[in-house]
Formats: sequence, C-alpha cells, structure tokens
Amino acid sequence: MSAALFPSAAADRRRVLVVGGAGYIGAHVCKALHGAGYAPVVVDDLSTGHAWAVRWGPLERCDVTDAAGLARVFARWRPYAVVHLAARSLVGESVRDPAAYYAANVGGALSLLQTMRASGVSRLVVSSSCAVYGAPARQPIDEATPIAPLSPYGETKAVVDGMLARFAAAYGLAAISLRYFNAAGADFDARIGESHDPETHLIPLVLDAAAGLRPDVKIFGVDHATPDGSCIRDYIHVDDLADAHLKAVQALEVGAGFDVFNLGGGVGCSVREVVSAAQRVTGRPIAAVAAPRRAGDPPALVACSAKARRTLGWAPKVTRLDDIVSSAWS
Ligand code: UFG
Repeated sequence: MSAALFPSAAADRRRVLVVGGAGYIGAHVCKALHGAGYAPVVVDDLSTGHAWAVRWGPLERCDVTDAAGLARVFARWRPYAVVHLAARSLVGESVRDPAAYYAANVGGALSLLQTMRASGVSRLVVSSSCAVYGAPARQPIDEATPIAPLSPYGETKAVVDGMLARFAAAYGLAAISLRYFNAAGADFDARIGESHDPETHLIPLVLDAAAGLRPDVKIFGVDHATPDGSCIRDYIHVDDLADAHLKAVQALEVGAGFDVFNLGGGVGCSVREVVSAAQRVTGRPIAAVAAPRRAGDPPALVACSAKARRTLGWAPKVTRLDDIVSSAWS
C-alpha cells in the first residue's frame, strides 16, 4: 500500500531540485552538488534569495507554498532528490510574526512533501536548526537532546522534523534533516556570500563595522553565564554545511527512513572572540559596545557532530574561527 504513496518515478539520478537555492546556504549547496557531478535546479521565489547567486543550474521562480507551481516544476525536471532550504530563519522576527513562520516553514514543507508524493520523488534533505533544542543545559548538544524550542522559528523546524518522521513511516519517504548551528563565512573564491537585508547576523555586522559601514557592533548581553559574559555559538563554515548536504543526498541513494544530524564544528566562540578574530583578520579597529541581552538568546550552543562524522563521513574542513571570518571578509 505505502509503495503507491511515494511511487518511484523515472528520474535522472543527477538531477536535484534545490528549493531555496538562491539563498546564502542554498547557493553554496548548488556549488557543492555541481562540483560532485549533480545537476542542481534552483526553485526559489527570490523573496530573500538573489538571482545572481544562481550559477550552477537553471532557476525556476516559484514559491514553495504554491503547490500548483511546484507540480509544474516537478513535471518539467523529474528530479531524483530534493534539498529543501526555503524557509524564514530569524528568531526575533518569528516571535513578532509567528503566523508568517508557520505559513512559510510548515506550510511550505507540507506543500513540498505533497508535491513529492504526487510526483513520485521520495528523497529529501531538509535544512533544520539547533533552535529545535532551545537552551539545553548540557553542551555539546547531540541529537538525543530533548526537543524544546524557545521561539516560533525553532518550533516550525521541530514540526517539520516531526512531519518527516511521520511521512517516512507512513509513506516511505527517505529524508535527512540537517540541524545547523551558526552558518558563517563565504565561498573562498568570494563568488557568493552572505547578504541579508536588514542584516542581523553577528559576523557580517562585525565586518561592516570593520569596513566603516557601521559605527560599532553591539554585544547583546555581557552578563551571560559564560567565561567572558557574551554568548557562545558554534560557527560552521558554509562550504562545510554545503558538503554535508552533498553527503546527505549521497546517503539517500542507499538509505531509507528518516534521520537527523547536528552540524557544527564542536568549538564554542563567544561574541567577544568573534570581534577579536575580525580585528586580527581585517587589521582594523572595531568598536564593540555592551548592549542588553537579545530576547530568546541562549547563552551557549555548541554542537556534537559525532553522528554526522560517523554516519555521513562528514567533517568540517574550516576549523579556525579566523579562517571563517577571513572568508566572509574577502
Ligand atoms: N549578536 C550580537 N550582536 C549583534 C548580533 C548578534 O551580540 O549585533 C550575538 C547574538 O546575541 C548571538 C550571536 O551573536 O549570541 C550570534 O547571533 P546571530 O544573530 O548571528 O545568530 P543566532 O545565534 O541568533 O541565530 C543563528 C541563525 C538562526 C538559528 C540560530 C541557532 O541565524 O537561524 O543560529 O542558534 F536558529
């Protein structure tokens, strides 16, 4: 019975739809897939992505919640697998406007899953987040850590992971959820980089301050329970994240069911350490100003990625914070 629900369609084994492929991480995923001999096709509504970042295959302009539009794209390209990164991803914005997050992130994932079922495409890699874990006491965070999101954003990611597990059990979906810690850095050839409007992420803001585009950078909270009082995060280079997507797509060629992997470098860096790294890398002074805590910021989030290393054969190559910051600066 279930075989009919994700019927396997004849597909070009190289063709991968990258939904959200015009975004910061999506573009790096396309580059990695292309480099490994896959043929990525980007599906993106360009609401936050950029047409200039689509360089490794064609662009289909389509909103992930538009099921009819998606059906046409699937019929045209008959993909072998799908990588889904089209989601809203700002914690603070999700607190102010949760409806937009449930609509885009949960509604988008459901629309995509239904289209995949109808089209007979059963392999899916999804971008998830360590935000599903909330603020766990124990670090580093492995996949057995209880799901306890603090924000609507984190909750939408947890709901989608739950949907994937249920669809795998009921319909034979083969899915991998990748829970990123803090994606950072840029392509070493500097062809694609992080570009948000307005920018809220730490490393681009610190580099803007180094470039004189902002007077200073605010340190959100200097009284956290961390050694220097500022928040600790696990920064992972976007090329390493992209490589994990490639390895997940390859794993789905042989695997089935649903699995999740935490992706981080396993090293925590404080906000103050990021500012110091940026000063070293740029050789410029950066004014860092103590500011109140940002609502919902956990004091520390550091990944245990042992499972991804073991199961996917993945390991981050860019392991020094200075190298991550330097790639973003270039
Ligand atoms: N920070 C500052 N000043 C700033 C901006 C950020 O001190 O001007 C601090 C934050 O408080 C946080 C750290 O720098 O401690 C990193 O902040 P980012 O906004 O760059 O990243 P977040 O950790 O808040 O969020 C990122 C992703 C989310 C994901 C989350 C999981 O953007 O999608 O990681 O931790 F859910």
